[in-house]
Amino acid sequence: MADTVGSTILVLNGPNLNLLGAREPDVYGTTTLEDIKSAVTEYANTLGMQVDFRQSNTEGELVDWVQSANQTASAVIINAGAYTHTSIAILDALLACGLPVIEVHLSNIFRREEFRHHSYTSQAATGIICGFGAQGYLLALDAAKVTLARP
Ligand code: DQA
Repeated sequence: MADTVGSTILVLNGPNLNLLGAREPDVYGTTTLEDIKSAVTEYANTLGMQVDFRQSNTEGELVDWVQSANQTASAVIINAGAYTHTSIAILDALLACGLPVIEVHLSNIFRREEFRHHSYTSQAATGIICGFGAQGYLLALDAAKVTLARP
C-alpha cells in the first residue's frame, strides 16, 4: 500500500485568505484561493505528493488541524494570515506537532507595516517564503520536498 501519510502535505490557510482574488488585489494579486488550491494540487502530483488543502477564519480550528497533522501528513505548509503576527496558540501547536513547517506569505511582510514584521509562527518554521504571491505555495512544496529528503 502506498504511504500516503509520508507523501501528504497539509496546506493551511488562515483568516481572510478565502477572500483572495477580491481582497486588496494590489497587495495579494487576483488569484483566488481555489486557483491556488488547483495549482498546488497539480504541482504536488508532479512531485509525487498529495495535498490536504484547507482554510479557516478561526484560530481554534487551525490549532485543531495542526494538532492532528502528524496523523495524516509529513509536513505542514502554513499561511496563517494575520494570526502569524498574533497567535502563540498556533505557534505552540506547530512546535508540538513535530513536523517540518514551511511558512508562506503572498506579500513580503517585511516591506509592509511594522506590525507584520514579527511572526510567531516563524519560530516553529523550517523556513519562510514570502513576497512571491501565489507562486510561493509552489516554492513551499519544493521546500517541503527538499526538507523531507534530508537525512
Ligand atoms: C499574509 C500577510 C499577513 O500580514 C496578512 O494578515 C494576511 C496575508 C500574506 O499572505 O501576505 O492575511 O499572510
